[in-house]
Amino acid sequence: MKLKELESCLQQVDGFEEPKILLEQYPTSPHIAGCMLYTIHNTFDDIQNKLVADLGCGCGVLSIGAAVLDAGLCVGFDIDEDALDIFKGNVEDFELSNIDMVQCDVCSIGSSYAKKFDTVIMNPPFGTKHNQGIDMQFLQTAISMASTAVYSLHKTSTRDSSDMTCQHLISSTKRSRLIFKWTSFDLLQHKRQKGNRVALQNFSYRLL
Ligand SMILES: C[S@@+](CC[C@H](N)C(=O)[O-])C[C@H]1O[C@@H](n2cnc3c(N)ncnc32)[C@H](O)[C@@H]1O
Repeated sequence: MKLKELESCLQQVDGFEEPKILLEQYPTSPHIAGCMLYTIHNTFDDIQNKLVADLGCGCGVLSIGAAVLDAGLCVGFDIDEDALDIFKGNVEDFELSNIDMVQCDVCSIGSSYAKKFDTVIMNPPFGTKHNQGIDMQFLQTAISMASTAVYSLHKTSTRDSSDMTCQHLISSTKRSRLIFKWTSFDLLQHKRQKGNRVALQNFSYRLL
C-alpha cells in the first residue's frame, strides 16, 4: 500500500468526540500515523503477521493502520471506555477482524504481558497534565511487553530522559545487540505547522 493510500484510509477513522484533556486525548493525525506505520512496515517489517500492541490506543488510529497493513493481531489498550467505544465503531466500519482491545491503566499492567507482543506502537500521554513521568511509565511497560520493537512518539524536549530510561531498561534485559535510535519520519513540516504539542520525533528501538 502506498503512503498516500494509507494516509487517506486513516482519514476515515473517527476521533474523540469530547477529548479528556487530563488523559491527554490528542489524536495522532492521519499524516503522522501514516508516516510512522509506513516506515515500521516497509523499512523494518515489524507489522505484517506480527502481534502488535497499541498502548493508549484512544479511538484506534494506530491500531487500525496496523490492522490494515496486515498485522496478525493488533491489541489496543486504553483506560477510557468512551474512547474504546469509538474505537469499536471504527473497527466495525473498517470491517477488521484482526483487532482486539483491553480497557486498563497501562501503568498498572506490570509484567502480565511480558514479551507477549512482537511490536509495540504508541503515542503515549506526555505527562503534561499533573501526570508527570507517565510517558516514561508507558515506555517501561512497552519495553517489557515487546520481544522485538517499540515505536513511540515523544516530545523532542524529553529526548534525553527517554534515552536514559530506555538505556537503563534495555541494559537490564541483557540483550546482546541493540539498535536504538530516533527517527524523524518526515514530521518536520507538521512540526512547523502545529507548534509545540506535536513537536514530535519518533523514538524507536529494536532488540535483535
Ligand atoms: C495522545 S492520546 C493518543 C491516542 C491514540 N493512540 C492516537 O494515536 O490517536 C493518549 C491516549 O492515552 C490514553 N491514556 C491516558 N492515560 C492512560 C493510562 N494511564 N492508561 C491507559 N491509557 C491512558 C488516553 O485515554 C488517550 O487515548
